[in-house]
Amino acid sequence: MDQLSGKQIENFANSFFSQSQHLSSEEDLNQLISDFDADLLCSQMESLSVDQLVKFLRASHGYYLTKKLPEIEQSLAHIVNKFGSSHSLLAGLAVYFNNYKKKLVKHIRMEEEMFFPFIETLAKAQEGKFTKKELELLLKNTTVEDFEDNHDSVEDELREVGQIIREYAAKSDAIFPFSVFLNQVSLFEYELRKHAVIEDMVLVKKVVELEKELRENLAA
Ligand SMILES: [Fe+2]
Ligand SMILES: [Fe+2]
Repeated sequence: MDQLSGKQIENFANSFFSQSQHLSSEEDLNQLISDFDADLLCSQMESLSVDQLVKFLRASHGYYLTKKLPEIEQSLAHIVNKFGSSHSLLAGLAVYFNNYKKKLVKHIRMEEEMFFPFIETLAKAQEGKFTKKELELLLKNTTVEDFEDNHDSVEDELREVGQIIREYAAKSDAIFPFSVFLNQVSLFEYELRKHAVIEDMVLVKKVVELEKELRENLAA
């Protein structure tokens, strides 16, 4: 893929996520999730440059924060309002979800404020925009290994939210409000999984190479 502008990357991110936007049934959703192929996703994303990947991931973060999380919260609030008096532990679930959300937002913020700027700086260095001294200083203080990720815990906790709600749904006669919420959580789990694969298996792999190359150039 040639260099894309910010707007084009945003459109690309939107179309990337829209594949899973209009699923008509739970079976479609389950199918989509079971068809997930990390290797295929990696090969689709590999042609993007480090800069483009970062733009894409930033656009995805925006989509989670402004669209996906508010939608899930709204459904959860609906369930709690409707069934909270008969299922007192549902209020606890809302607290649990809120804590989960805080962790996810913290994770995203760390990537936006520290990890991605580091990567963008390395990409600039590769274009020769820094002096040898500046590059030395940058690489002396930071390495991509400092950003060892904790995607597993972010995913596990969301899965737990789904499990708790599934137990409630099994006990309730009113399945529909639960199933809307459950589908949203499952879809979000799926999207975060893809996002983590792109970060860990495509972006980090490229950045490790880039950093190695820059360190070798410095040593030469
Ligand atoms: Fe991310
Ligand atoms: Fe991440």
